[in-house]
Amino acid sequence: MREVNIALIGLGTVGSGVYKTICLQKQRVEHKEGISLNLKKVLALEYAIDIPDSLKATDFYADIVSDKSIDIVIELIGGISPAKEFILAALGAGKTVVTANKDLLAQHWPELNAAAKASGAGLYFEASVGGGIPIIRTIWESLQANEITSMMGIINGTTNYILTKMAEEKLSYEEVLAQAQAQGLAEANPKSDVEGYDAMYKLSILSSLAFHARVPVEYIYREGITGITLEDIKYGQELGYTLKLLAISKREGNTVQARVHPTMIPNTHPLASIRGAFNAIYLHGNIVDDIMLYGRGAGDMPTASAVMSDVIYAANQASHKYTTFYNEKDASSEMTFEKNWESAFFLRLIVLDAPNVLAKIAGIFGSHGVSLASVMQKEHGSESVPLVLITHKAKELSVKQALGELSKIKEVTSVANAIRVES
Ligand code: HSE
Repeated sequence: MREVNIALIGLGTVGSGVYKTICLQKQRVEHKEGISLNLKKVLALEYAIDIPDSLKATDFYADIVSDKSIDIVIELIGGISPAKEFILAALGAGKTVVTANKDLLAQHWPELNAAAKASGAGLYFEASVGGGIPIIRTIWESLQANEITSMMGIINGTTNYILTKMAEEKLSYEEVLAQAQAQGLAEANPKSDVEGYDAMYKLSILSSLAFHARVPVEYIYREGITGITLEDIKYGQELGYTLKLLAISKREGNTVQARVHPTMIPNTHPLASIRGAFNAIYLHGNIVDDIMLYGRGAGDMPTASAVMSDVIYAANQASHKYTTFYNEKDASSEMTFEKNWESAFFLRLIVLDAPNVLAKIAGIFGSHGVSLASVMQKEHGSESVPLVLITHKAKELSVKQALGELSKIKEVTSVANAIRVES
């Protein structure tokens, strides 16, 4: 039986899940894999669960980096510093690192990858995207025969929970967020989730792997859900759409578009059925066609499942594999990033209720090459009424220019919301 000595850094939600998984599954892993998982050290500022004192480390460098018997370091403290210094030190000492740290990977991956390559250590990060969904290794190892051309994902559980609850219980964004915070489902400071940063980091990692090219976060368009109202969701429902925060990336030749934004999708789209805090990634490969992976995107045990799959996988490797795309901070030089992509739009305008207003609005869209697919005006009689339009696919900049022009005419009181539509 081969013994694998492990150090765990961070004993919060996911760290506790990893600790419990090692205790629960130790015998099974021994029988199935011939590997004895030996948790040697745990370093944490706070201990979310009770563990034996003999496991507690006090100094990362003295107790873990200098301990030659430790093979694998699991980093679950998150954030950039000191996680980055810890990981670089562990890799430098030849220890394989397993991490869930998407912020760090999205922003410093080349440096970490280079450090791993230099010492021959492994660097694994299945838990960084999609919690328990095995998406990283699926892209890296199971879809190698494909050219992946598009990905659409619900990769932030907090926002999917909020949007689902708004849609199903007809509650406002503020009401649902407050409830979710009270129940511990949303962070006290929800910015990273609700403003789309979390999804942007995850999309950078997924797109880089899928497209075999760096897709830096600086090249990803990002818009969160803080501007979404119940009205938008209700109008969308009447028109047959479900509203989701989607992370989308597409590659055509050497042109990539990568974006995170609220998106209306038809109720029949596979991603429309993903409710609550679940995640799903829907992608297209030229050989496999469409494929969707679905599961819990967060939580102690689902994320621990991904972490431990890396630990066991790493322990089984005679030598480690590394990503081979351009290790530069900037985008790969041969790539172009498309900012003026095409999508349809759901537009909610507040307009004067008078004859010829629609004709004038349609004229302005037409002058920017934007064609209207449908129009809905339900209210009539008051001075200003909501007018909901769905456009055909149009260039991003054309729609924005048309909206800019519309916001200046007296017939349009305001552009209440503009939400992209994908199918
Ligand atoms: N905060 C993330 C989410 C989970 O809401 O999906 C961790 O990546």
